[in-house]
Amino acid sequence: MEYETIGKEPADKMAVMPNLPDVDAARVGFQWTDIYKDLDWLPGGYLNQAHECIDRHVNAGRGDKTALIWVGKNGEEERYTFQDMKEQTNKFANVLQSLGVEKGERIFVFMERLPELYFAIFGALKLGAVVGPLFSAFGPDPVRDRMQDSGATVLVAQPDLKRRVSEMLPALPDLKYTIIVNKDGRDKEPLAKGDLSYETLMADASSEFEIANTSMYDYSVIHYTSGTTGKPKGAVHRHVAVVQQYATGKWALDLHPDDIYWCTADPGWVTGTSYGMFAPWSNGVTQVIYEGGFSARAWYEVIQKYSVTVWYTAPTAIRMLMKAGDDVPARFDLSTLRHINSVGEPLNPEAVVWGTKVFDQAIHDNYWQTETGAIMVANYPAMPVRPGSMGKPIPGVEVGILDGEYNPVPAGEEGYLAVRPGWPSMFHTYWNNLELYNSKFIKGWYISGDQAKIDEDGYVWFVGRADDVINTAGHLVGPFEVESVLIEHPAVAEAAVIGIPDALAMEVVKGFVSLKDGFEPTEELRREILGHGRKRLQAIAPRSIEFRASLPKTRSGKIMRRLLKAEELGLPLGDTSTLEDD
Ligand code: PRX
Repeated sequence: MEYETIGKEPADKMAVMPNLPDVDAARVGFQWTDIYKDLDWLPGGYLNQAHECIDRHVNAGRGDKTALIWVGKNGEEERYTFQDMKEQTNKFANVLQSLGVEKGERIFVFMERLPELYFAIFGALKLGAVVGPLFSAFGPDPVRDRMQDSGATVLVAQPDLKRRVSEMLPALPDLKYTIIVNKDGRDKEPLAKGDLSYETLMADASSEFEIANTSMYDYSVIHYTSGTTGKPKGAVHRHVAVVQQYATGKWALDLHPDDIYWCTADPGWVTGTSYGMFAPWSNGVTQVIYEGGFSARAWYEVIQKYSVTVWYTAPTAIRMLMKAGDDVPARFDLSTLRHINSVGEPLNPEAVVWGTKVFDQAIHDNYWQTETGAIMVANYPAMPVRPGSMGKPIPGVEVGILDGEYNPVPAGEEGYLAVRPGWPSMFHTYWNNLELYNSKFIKGWYISGDQAKIDEDGYVWFVGRADDVINTAGHLVGPFEVESVLIEHPAVAEAAVIGIPDALAMEVVKGFVSLKDGFEPTEELRREILGHGRKRLQAIAPRSIEFRASLPKTRSGKIMRRLLKAEELGLPLGDTSTLEDD
């Protein structure tokens, strides 16, 4: 169904004058160096994301402003000013330094949304370390793969999360320290032998620290992301990413100094760092951090209680809110909300329109990836919304749609979504995998792996992914990562994993397995394999398993997930000429 364009008031008539009144005009003559002057920089031309997000505000006399309002899952509340943030992050930088951690070492953080997670991440950045945030719902295998690949030396974790993965810690030869954050003594078990207590270390640490002279090109954050083949790859970002995180926080999220901002993403995924940390705080904005998971009532309550003005969430969450019914939001005062944004998966046009009914405004979709580090295409407060479109590229970014030979196609035609390299938050490499990194750049374009089209007026429309990566609730899952775990089950001979449609999460993970000789495809065995997947992978485990006598393969022995997917969806099977002969 086609939806009508949702018009907007002229920018100068809007209650809050948008930071970007006209994206097309702003694009003309724009240079990224125009933004450099808005950042503070360190003496000598150095740049550090933690300085831009925290210390610069204190230096400018805004130390008393609230940076973080933490809402715990048991109803607790804590508030931290930029001055408090400066002290806590200085302390953690000193903790790492006292342990002998040096610039460039990889520090991984495995926690839920607790204030201490933010202190640890920004403290590590102050020291010049490279931060690797882990999704708090990961099981031992995804944690091991990421820390092993990047040679992590320190793990900062909550006690229960650490216990969940402790069996794999001996497999990490580079790991020197595990620091346990036992918030408010919630965990009653004694500290395991060899672990360090965050609380004890912080109590003894000085709150004075001189931020390391990181250059704009020094590494700051590593986020693992999935492809069709192989284990997840670590996309490496640099301090200079803050230029675009700051700018898109202004343009797309329209952050103004008095905003109360809430980003619902988990900090283990890139939205949780770029827009749950760097964009709001480089703009000096107060943000609410809610520890709890999804609940329609609890979420509306957060908006009402903290007078949230700008909100960044995801399509799965919006669909769950829609499912909860319109009578739920009607019981809350949500009138402070003035700009709602979404990312991570296609946002259904009906969800955009639902926003106009329940929140009196369209939900603004935007598009980017782990590799891009920041928003690339967006719907802006002052630009009419075409429901179903991801909006228009931000100033300073050129998006192209390419054909099979990687040449641009005319407006309106579908093709590969590509971007001209050179935007500030562009990833700098995949850790230990320069070859794969280089393979993403063809004919002067960065190839995103997505398919899209651009209409005559410059709006970008998502079509689909060009690979086998599964997008479940906005989280990318690489089939190989899941298959590797399934085939470790003693009964499994071969495994293939695909995403199947789901009304809420867009896709959920489904596994197909063939069994080794001597094993029967019983219901009990199916449940056992599902349990094995859950234990090892947790959130990214398959939701269902189907037995097959054998899996379709090419003549060279590669399993054809595409065929399984086509069968599952009842689609034409396409070219099967390379299929294995029986
Ligand atoms: O396929 C696109 C989808 O999510 C992928 C990027 O996922 P990730 O690297 O985990 O980063 C997620 C947060 C930015 C993209 O390649 N995607 C992202 N935004 C959209 C989207 N698909 C459709 N519409 C979007 N707005």
